[in-house]
This record gives sequence, structure tokens and C-alpha cells, in this order.
Amino acid sequence: MNGIKIRGTGRGVPEQTVCNAEIAGRVDTSDEWITSRTGIRLRHHSREGESFLSMTASAARRALENAGVGPEEIGACIVATLSADTLVPSAACLLQRELGLPEDILCFDLNAACSGFLFALHTMECLLNAAPRKYGLIVGAEQLSRLINWEDRGTCILFGDGAGAAVVESREGFPTISAVMGCHGNDALLHVPGAETGGRSLISMEGTKVFKFAVEAVPWCIRQVLDKAGKTMDDVDFFVLHQANARIMDLAVRRCRIPPEKCYQNIGEYGNTSAASIPLVLSELHEQGKIGPGSRVLAVGFGGGLTWGGCLIEFA
Ligand code: COA
Repeated sequence: MNGIKIRGTGRGVPEQTVCNAEIAGRVDTSDEWITSRTGIRLRHHSREGESFLSMTASAARRALENAGVGPEEIGACIVATLSADTLVPSAACLLQRELGLPEDILCFDLNAACSGFLFALHTMECLLNAAPRKYGLIVGAEQLSRLINWEDRGTCILFGDGAGAAVVESREGFPTISAVMGCHGNDALLHVPGAETGGRSLISMEGTKVFKFAVEAVPWCIRQVLDKAGKTMDDVDFFVLHQANARIMDLAVRRCRIPPEKCYQNIGEYGNTSAASIPLVLSELHEQGKIGPGSRVLAVGFGGGLTWGGCLIEFA
């Protein structure tokens, strides 16, 4: 099977930021509690009327430009999300029209909650082996501000909006991403109702239990991916972990003996953006020149489902 490498990245983020003090003006919490328990200082929330599609399209356009790839060269498009504007049409179909992507390609949304971007990357790697063109477009995008339960101080502090995109290239001789992914059906720990309610969909979560799941899953995924790829910690330039809680990342860094400077965090500025969190980090690292051609990134995601995933991604 041909492997894939990332050629370009981009992001699109709503302008409006909401700081902890503003949240504390709305629910019974404090900047000190939120910062010390989560590492979050700010999150971006879309304003009324700002659409999911415009955020997603701006991330995708930047990734295409950064990769030097035209929309007509795309062979498949996946949007990883749980918060798109509509169930039908999918966000990926709307993006296809917006960007003028070819019509002979698979465009679809993928929901694996916070593991969504990595599930999409693995799916894309398989898909491009049979696609009409060698480039794939993947966007992780969320408008979680629309799903926040403002009656629940344990969750309303956490979530933000944003979109991160990557253009990948499939080629013979590229290594596969050594994906390790899975899920076990659990609807109790993290739940966002869909059509079942007939009303609004709001996020509910048993935070402490999800925390425990995450601190086991992250080191396990790191070890499994390295084993599968036949690589060691030293072969990895950056570890990009789902930005759910700085304490989860700090624990993983200690348990796996990752040099802290190799684990980039931007949770302070974005909060938890679910499927967008990993590509937002990738696009910042890429833009800052910290990763580029030849770099190797080990990414790990975990989230509702429960789902988890890890892979080793190289940059073209
Ligand atoms: N402000 C102030 N106090 C708060 C609070 C808030 N925003 N939210 C909860 N508390 C209180 C609780 O009421 C509880 O008080 P009590 O001891 O008097 O009952 C206390 O703080 C501890 O609550 P708990 O829920 O145990 O906190 P925690 O340390 O587990 O932190 C999370 C809560 C959500 C930050 C943490 O569990 C977490 O990040 N979990 C993982 C989330 C995650 O990864 N989700 C995404 C998967 S994609």
C-alpha cells in the first residue's frame, strides 16, 4: 500500500475570543480554577451568523495554497466533525462546491469525536490508493460553542471553535502512517444527542472518568505506534496530542519520558476543539517552521465514542 505525507497545512479560526474571566461572569467558576485544572486561558467562539462552512473553507484554502496544490488536483475530501451546520448535505459536500473540487471524488464527513482527524488521515491513506488523483484534503473542524451546556460548569469552560486542514500526498515508496486506532462503544462518559432529542444537542461528560481513560490511552498509543513503525522516541521530532487538558499532556510527557519541548501545546489559546485540535497544532508548528520537509510527528487523539488513535506522520 502507498503511504501518505503531509504537504500543506492551514487553519481558520473565529476572531472572537472568550477569556476565563468572561466565563466566570456567566457561571460559578474562576480564572484560577480553569487555568490550573485545564491549562485553558482562552477559547474562540463564533459570532452569530459565522458559518461552519466559511471557517472550514478558509482552513482548506490555506492548506491548498501552502501545499501548492490546486483544487482540481484533489482525489478525496474528508471533513472530521461532530458539529457541522447540517447532517445532510455533509460539510464535505458543501466544501466541494465552495472550493470547486472535482466531482468524481469521494467527499464525506467522519465523526470519531476528538479522534476524528486521525481517523480521517488513516481513512484517506487507504482511499488514495484507489482515488483518481494523488492528493487528499482533510479538515478537522468544530463549532462546539453551539453545543455548550451553560448550566454545567464542568464542561462549559472547556470547548472552543476552529478548523485545521491538511493536504496529503499519496505516493509509492512513502511509508504508511502506522495507524493504531480503535473504539469501544460507550455512551455514558461523553454524549452529544442527535435526532433522539428532537430539541437542542448539548455536550455532557463525566470529566474525571474521561481523564482516567485518556491518561491510559495516550501512552499506550505512543508505544503501539512506535512499535508498528519500528521507530524509537528519538526518531520523532514532535509529539502532537489532542488538546483536551494540559494535565493529561503533562502526565503523558512524564510517563513516556518525552522531552517537554517536543510536546507542543496550544490549549491555552483554543481550549478543546475536538477534531480540529490536532490539525490546529500541526498548522502552527508548520507555520513557525518547527516542522517541515522530512519532519516526523507522532500524533495521538482520544475522545467520545470512546475512540482513540495514534499515527506517525511525515512531512513532504
Ligand atoms: N469551576 C470551579 N469548580 C468546578 C468547576 C469549575 N468550572 N467544574 C467543576 N468544579 C468543581 C466540582 O464541582 C467539584 O467540586 P466538589 O469537589 O465540591 O464536588 C470539583 O471542582 C472537582 O470536580 P471534578 O469534575 O472532579 O474536576 P476535575 O479535576 O476532574 O476537572 C475536568 C474537571 C473536566 C477539567 C477534567 O476532568 C478533564 O479535563 N477531564 C477530561 C476531559 C477530556 O479530556 N475531555 C475530552 C475528551 S475529548
